[in-house]
Amino acid sequence: MKESGDVPVKDMKDHKDYASYFQSTYQPPSLKDAKKRGKEAVKILKDYDLEEDLKRIGVGKKFYIRTYGCQMNEHDTEVMAGIFTEMGYEPTTDVQEANVILLNTCAIRENAENKVFGELGHLKPLKLEKPDLLIGVCGCMSQEESVVTKILQTYDQVDMIFGTHNIHRLPQIIKEAYLSKEMVVEVWSKEGDIVENLPRVRKGNIQGWVNIMYGCDKFCTYCIVPYTRGKERSRRPEDIIEEVRHLARNGYQEVTLLGQNVNAYGKDFEDMEYGLGDLMDEMRKIDIPRVRFTTSHPRDFDDHLIEVLAKGGNLVEHIHLPVQHGNSEILKLMARKYTREHYMELVGKIKQAIPHAALTTDIIVGFPNETEEQFEETLSLVKEVQYDAAYTFIYSPREGTPAAKMIDNVPLEVKKERLQRLNATLNEISLSKNEAYIDSVVEVLVEGESKKNPDVLTGHTSSNKVVNFRGPKHLIGTIVKVHVTDAKTWTLRGNLLEETAGVIEG
Ligand code: SAH
Ligand code: SF4
Ligand code: F3S
Repeated sequence: MKESGDVPVKDMKDHKDYASYFQSTYQPPSLKDAKKRGKEAVKILKDYDLEEDLKRIGVGKKFYIRTYGCQMNEHDTEVMAGIFTEMGYEPTTDVQEANVILLNTCAIRENAENKVFGELGHLKPLKLEKPDLLIGVCGCMSQEESVVTKILQTYDQVDMIFGTHNIHRLPQIIKEAYLSKEMVVEVWSKEGDIVENLPRVRKGNIQGWVNIMYGCDKFCTYCIVPYTRGKERSRRPEDIIEEVRHLARNGYQEVTLLGQNVNAYGKDFEDMEYGLGDLMDEMRKIDIPRVRFTTSHPRDFDDHLIEVLAKGGNLVEHIHLPVQHGNSEILKLMARKYTREHYMELVGKIKQAIPHAALTTDIIVGFPNETEEQFEETLSLVKEVQYDAAYTFIYSPREGTPAAKMIDNVPLEVKKERLQRLNATLNEISLSKNEAYIDSVVEVLVEGESKKNPDVLTGHTSSNKVVNFRGPKHLIGTIVKVHVTDAKTWTLRGNLLEETAGVIEG
């Protein structure tokens, strides 16, 4: 089914080169349109279903999806794997034997994008060898105009480009790609609806991801996500609770509630006052050992949420609270909408209410105009908070964002040197935090064998520390007690407590 009727006249004019060369172009993206936030209500669709012909399209064929970026993308891949399975496809981990290859991409920094362009280059010989192979680009990069233009102009090995709001249309897009053999582009710049009953094939059966909301309205000046993921839309609490209950019934030990800015959960509900604190309170009643959430924005982190998290139970003692910078002026330029003082006040409240909480963060160095003194404020904040761990990044200008118009005047060498100093400080703190665990007993959700040594099992504590220990494989998927004997910067090592081993073996 061709939907050329969906292409607004304006877009046809702006992009008439696409339309004439690529007959199957449904709709290319526009960053300007992505920025418009309509007041119209988001529709919740519950009647996703496949027509009979689409259910057989993949019989005897295999799909391969490579995922880049955050948990949101990882989880989208699980949904697409579910859709492929409904279409009759089987999964493969070998690109050589795939009939469809999808790159589920991330646009957060330039190096993330370069990896994808590199991979597309590597796939070209395979496409020449197997002309029936379908190659698709989806995820956040496909929401960017410049990326779509570049692919249309220089990567003719690509058969389909579809956006983050079009995942549920994968079957129709695949069918169109088989029929037309022209490049199919379907990217809605403005967000779609919430589609509730999409199939999923989850990775493993121990930990599960559950979306609680989509999109982001924060528009931090450096960030592309509000453009690639659209406006904030919250799923209804009853749908989330049902999904978590379903995972619990199926033996899952841990869920992670996902959103780009989970603290804004529920703010878009027009019929009720309901926030993340209320949702977490419901999560406590579900019989599943651990509930996590990510990512928090400090601005909307309210007292009610802290109060609920302090009740403990299955709500874990770990909060990821991205600070981005330690200097209030830079925070203002970033449009984070809090000052260093506000952030520290919030950290103080959290530490008081949940004394054992592990705090982690995200930090950007080398934002335009960052001076040495301002950078040192990031260092001093890090020391004050005493983070358990942090993800640190060199600022990368993203086309279409307000910061990209600021002069990026910190030399790369300086950015690299600051990143190194920051990481050295963070690593020292992580090590000392981990050393404090020596000689204590921790509860570990056993997730599998260690990558380095199959005789060693690995898992996480509720505070999200990685723990390695020797033990029998049948413990995978259970929570055990481990006596910590050694600490490194990133991991703890210990011995399985006899008591737990005995109970399980007996
Ligand atoms: N929604 C999350 C972040 C998602 S992106 C939040 O608000 O915390 C993950 C991290 O990537 C961000 O926290 C930020 O530290 C980093 N990041 C985002 N845009 C970036 C850019 N243009 N350059 C460098 N790092 C960036
Ligand atoms: Fe990006 Fe800011 Fe939204 Fe996080 S809150 S996704 S950093 S715009
Ligand atoms: Fe990347 Fe998109 Fe996630 S830009 S970090 S994959 S929301």
